[in-house]
Amino acid sequence: MEKLIDTEIRGPLGIIRMQRPPVNALGYALRGAISDAHRAFEADPAIKATVLTGDGKFFSAGADITEFDTGRKKPYLTDLIAQLEEGSKPVVVIINGIAYGGGFELSLGCDYIYLLPGAKLAFPEINLGNIPGAGGTQKLPRLIGGPKALDIILTGKPIGAEKALELGIAEAIVADEDDALGVITAAVNAGLPRRPIRDLTVPGSADELEAAAEPYLRKSRGALAVRKGVEAVGMAYSVPIDEALQWERDTFQELNVSSEARAQRHIFFAERSARKIEDVPADTPLRQMDSAGIVGAGTMGTGIAMCFANAGIPVCVIEQEQERLDQGLARIRQTYESMRDKGRLSTEAAEERIALVTGSVDLAALADADIVVEAVFEAMDVKHDVFSRLDAVCKAGAILATNTSTLDINKIAEATDRPQDVIGMHFFSPAHIMKLLEVVRADKTEKDAIATTMALGQRIGKIPVLVGVCDGFAGNRMFINFNREAQILIEEGALPWQVDKVFTDWGLAMGPLSVMDLAGLDVGYRIRQARGPQTPYPFTTADRLAEAGKYGQKTGSGWYLYPEGARRGVPDPDVEKLIEEVSREKGITRRAVSDEEILHRCLWQMVNTGYQIVEEGIAQRTSDLDVIFVNGYGWPRMRGGPMFYAQETGLARVAADIARYHEEIGPHWKPSALLLEKAKAAGA
Ligand code: NAI
Repeated sequence: MEKLIDTEIRGPLGIIRMQRPPVNALGYALRGAISDAHRAFEADPAIKATVLTGDGKFFSAGADITEFDTGRKKPYLTDLIAQLEEGSKPVVVIINGIAYGGGFELSLGCDYIYLLPGAKLAFPEINLGNIPGAGGTQKLPRLIGGPKALDIILTGKPIGAEKALELGIAEAIVADEDDALGVITAAVNAGLPRRPIRDLTVPGSADELEAAAEPYLRKSRGALAVRKGVEAVGMAYSVPIDEALQWERDTFQELNVSSEARAQRHIFFAERSARKIEDVPADTPLRQMDSAGIVGAGTMGTGIAMCFANAGIPVCVIEQEQERLDQGLARIRQTYESMRDKGRLSTEAAEERIALVTGSVDLAALADADIVVEAVFEAMDVKHDVFSRLDAVCKAGAILATNTSTLDINKIAEATDRPQDVIGMHFFSPAHIMKLLEVVRADKTEKDAIATTMALGQRIGKIPVLVGVCDGFAGNRMFINFNREAQILIEEGALPWQVDKVFTDWGLAMGPLSVMDLAGLDVGYRIRQARGPQTPYPFTTADRLAEAGKYGQKTGSGWYLYPEGARRGVPDPDVEKLIEEVSREKGITRRAVSDEEILHRCLWQMVNTGYQIVEEGIAQRTSDLDVIFVNGYGWPRMRGGPMFYAQETGLARVAADIARYHEEIGPHWKPSALLLEKAKAAGA
């Protein structure tokens, strides 16, 4: 049978040590074992107090999330906590390591909390679209006040032992378990009274909470869990605890089945499965990666260099001229200094990272690099030149990666005699911030180079998703079709501000036209010009704007007007006239387009393209595409990504819409065979 706990009697203390590897997840069997041991200690007159702790790095990582979908068994965590609270003897907890979610709530069900130096506390429920459901929202405010509790509940961020002590969560930080037991024994011998946290009075007043809640509500884009979290903490001030606990439990159950929570659970699991590579075994030996080189110290190269330095990997940046190199290195230094000035990085850490980045104007400096990432201008002849020179200088076995976003990596690889080592590492701007990394395997990329690059991606703090070579890879190929549909809808009768509002209401931070204005209409224009005529759906209005020098925010006008450098655009009557003119030229009679049509046509374009991408083997699974949009394009986790949204809507309905659009609108709606197959299976 699985070992769940260890018990020990030491002096007046009955000790329960959770021992359920790997993380002491609080499944029903562990809950039952703690409950039985506590009951036995309560019945033993020689024992004066119960001590609850964990072992190793984990106190408890919280609920067993597999139980969320399979249903739970008694005793529930709330039953166990009530039992500890109703006992006759104090229960003291020693948090030895990670105490997240239910693990933290279990601690708050005890009378006193001691911390070991490695303790880390958090309520990560918000990241899965929920709030703590076993008393956390009522007891944490009683210990530290509503505003501070709210911050922990709504950010989901872990706090360390020092911070927890400073906030007033714990009695003390103690060096190790033996010391903690010594301190607790002394307290018990001196007559330690019971002090259930649930019986404390919340310090401060409810008015402070309202002001503290405002920024979270504003930034949450209407997330239900955030609203409920604020409401819950408010109840700690005004509602009797048993009533509030019942409300919290009911709300937890309700949120658990909400579409937002389902979406966030989907992304949680999708991010984990994205690491698996179907034809590359998990135990593939990895190449040693101890040093990196970057070619090109522009926007992307400098950001990528910082990713390596952040992970403690020395990185050498190459530029063609000293002046540009100096500028690039200065930008890196400034970024770290500004992080230090804002308190996001210690002085030592900032200096260490700056020191890890060196530079040269001689490519030969990369002779010993384990990996080189090329981020020079986006032109095949320039890339060819760089890769043939890398082939000449780099050591055997070095990985040669390109950050190209539009070029054929198979062709880039042809510039070398080692195509097996050539791979795409497609970062997203700003590279040191955006989590997504598309790892692009080319036809000849060796499996161990793929496995190594995926592992390295994680090591430098990214969420790597494996894709194959095609125009735009996975993310941009889907995104461009989303944008194209928005253009077509505008020519049919919608206006830019209507399209944008549909998507901000849906949960995106910005609509597609505002994004174009931010990125610069000249960027897309140049790419389209380089590619030649786009039939049958040219971005006519966008091209006209670019040709008129209206590039968006940076020129004060684009799809919107930006009076006096404003960051939020206002509708521009001239743009409306231009759009009407384009419709007229194309012989289109403008009509009222509904918000629903805008939402579905733009999203289903992406979804159909997404299924084509999987069908062609460019991506391994549809959930990878959701990971791409959530981590690279700022899409809201609470929607779970475009593919998940289609699955939630019902693939049969999505496929029927797409078939209708194919008939009514045009050939770019040809349904993906894989989508039709899945829709049939889902509809059966
Ligand atoms: P950039 O123009 O800011 O930087 C390119 C740098 O490469 C310049 O500093 C240039 O002097 C240098 N360079 C050119 N030829 C060189 C050579 N032979 N040796 C050494 N250095 C050389 O361009 P950016 O935006 O950083 O783009 C670089 C690459 O990243 C391109 O392939 C681009 O498509 C890709 N990319 C860009 C993204 C973006 O949002 N800007 C996003 C993802 C990929």
